[in-house]
Amino acid sequence: MKKNQKTKVISIVNQKGGTGKTTTAVNLAKALELLGYKVLLVDFDPQGSLSYYLDIEDASPNIADVLLGEANIEDALLQVSGMHVLPSNTELADLEISLANYDARESLLKEYLSRIQENYDYIIIDCSPSLSLLTVNALVASHHIIIPIPMEVLSFHGLHLIKDTVQAVKETLNPSLNILGILVVKYSPVRRITTQLLTAIQEEFSDTLTFKTKIRLDTRLIESPAYGNNIFETAPNSKGAEDYLDFAKEIIQLTKK
Ligand SMILES: Nc1ncnc2c1ncn2[C@@H]1O[C@H](COP(=O)(O)OP(=O)(O)O)[C@@H](O)[C@H]1O
Ligand SMILES: [Mg+2]
Repeated sequence: MKKNQKTKVISIVNQKGGTGKTTTAVNLAKALELLGYKVLLVDFDPQGSLSYYLDIEDASPNIADVLLGEANIEDALLQVSGMHVLPSNTELADLEISLANYDARESLLKEYLSRIQENYDYIIIDCSPSLSLLTVNALVASHHIIIPIPMEVLSFHGLHLIKDTVQAVKETLNPSLNILGILVVKYSPVRRITTQLLTAIQEEFSDTLTFKTKIRLDTRLIESPAYGNNIFETAPNSKGAEDYLDFAKEIIQLTKK
């Protein structure tokens, strides 16, 4: 473990479904682990697709039990392929409804994570496809966010809403929240639309970094969940594995300090 850095909490955010959040969370987390860091991966999507990918969707207790105060966060941690994972399932959706009645409802995740935070170098949070109270909890708990954008038609449409939400959280509950950058996924340099979309992203997010590393379109990334696993264990020589390893190195550089 690299002891001389403070824990970095990073949320993977985009309010649309199918933009590569879960794929990025799992494979960035595993790449960081392969590079020698201690990593906690948090499933914070009630649809639990991360937990489904990793074949732990029936785990009990899960993150909803923790946030309800019904289980210790330590008891919900699972060991998966060298990382710790906090599983989720549809109970988190029920929790979201009852959260509205809680005091400090935006800070619950931060409060519980803070009990174990210092055990990790990186905590990666896979967010739900919404800018709901759950996602606000993730933003309050985070130092950085990464926004994955797939190179598909109009996939960036409405993304200014993320900037507005981040700004609102910065002004109230988490002044140090930082959009680390935009991650281009399903990248295919030979498609003409790619150039158009990259230009459009640069216009829409002129004040935000687009990461140097782009995650290429790779069918091996689609297949790996079928084996309940990350790309490094299902297809270590694939483009997807190469790109997520490069991306993890870029993240390490950018979050050094
Ligand atoms: N670089 C990529 N190349 C090909 N398919 C990808 C890539 N990244 C993600 N996918 C696929 O796109 C779909 C949506 O990705 P996912 O990570 O589940 O998005 P989200 O969590 O934002 O809903 C999944 O079927 C996934 O396997
Ligand atoms: Mg997902």
